[in-house]
Amino acid sequence: METLFSGIQPSGIPTLGNYIGALKQFSEVQDDYNCFFCIVDQHAITVPQDRLKLRERTRQLAAIYLASGIDPEKSTLFIQSEVPAHVQAGWMLTTISSVGELERMTQFKDKSQKQTEGIPAGLLTYPPLMAADIVLYNTNIVPVGEDQKQHLELTRNLVDRFNSRYNDILIKPEVRMPKIGGRVMSLQDPTKKMSKSDDNAKNFISLLDNPNTAAKKIRSAVTDSDGIIKYDKDNKPGISNLLSIYSSLTDESIADLEVRYEGEGYGKFKGDLAEVVKQFLTDFQERYESYYHSEKLDDILDLGRDKAIKASARTLEKMERAMGLGRKRRK
Ligand code: TYM
Repeated sequence: METLFSGIQPSGIPTLGNYIGALKQFSEVQDDYNCFFCIVDQHAITVPQDRLKLRERTRQLAAIYLASGIDPEKSTLFIQSEVPAHVQAGWMLTTISSVGELERMTQFKDKSQKQTEGIPAGLLTYPPLMAADIVLYNTNIVPVGEDQKQHLELTRNLVDRFNSRYNDILIKPEVRMPKIGGRVMSLQDPTKKMSKSDDNAKNFISLLDNPNTAAKKIRSAVTDSDGIIKYDKDNKPGISNLLSIYSSLTDESIADLEVRYEGEGYGKFKGDLAEVVKQFLTDFQERYESYYHSEKLDDILDLGRDKAIKASARTLEKMERAMGLGRKRRK
């Protein structure tokens, strides 16, 4: 069976964008791959975090993974900082990364612009750590939203570089993106990505938003003035975004939705989608609550940590040997 790896930062409460772009895909592939899902808290600290909030969000994210359908019997769910191999391999891959290629990452450019007290060096060296997350498990497939594509390309380059410079030991992963909803947009500014760290709460729907509040956000989402419900990303970004969300949450195709809402106004369409979102969140949060407060959650994370430590040890050792770290093994 091939291996699949993906991660989410506990830097905020995941949004509907994270669900549609990532979490929804995860639960759909569990039977087909040997899956590792990670709460990447060491990535989250590349920008300043409040320590108590980070801890809470880490637990919340674990419960969100489970509420999204991750089955701990089938998949390994764990916290990055509890598996030291990630930073160890991350450092090795940092040493083969060039400052120039890291500076070219659009996420680095975006995030570093927002920093007021100097740019943390970890923001720059974020991608080789992400590459380490992936290669440690001999990953074949990485399901992510569109914004991670550039990081995955860099990962593939680092794998080639490591393999040609040292020893051919790392597997080159393939990226996998959802057909619909790879880039869910902001509700008030549909030319911008929906992001969990957005300052304006009207721009995104958090998976833990009150369902009525979330419905209101959908009803007041920015659209356009021509009143036609049609998917056209470039000219009608607002309505196209809402169509993607609708389609992803109901599994009804965009083409079918366009037919169903032909001649209807935006008010009716948004009202219906608001109900879909409200129902989705109500059901989701019910599952979430049952995990968040349960001790079982800690058992699942303990087990996940142990499995991840074991699964990553072999590649880490091979990488260290290939680079000449440590001593030769005693006979
Ligand atoms: P993060 O935490 O920003 O996002 C988690 C996942 O959600 C996807 N996503 C979106 N998809 C659709 N529409 C959106 N508006 C949207 N916003 C986010 C992201 O593409 C991602 O799949 N660097 C990663 C975390 C990471 C990782 C990894 C991922 C660390 N190591 C190894 C895969 C493999 C990140 O910051 O994701």
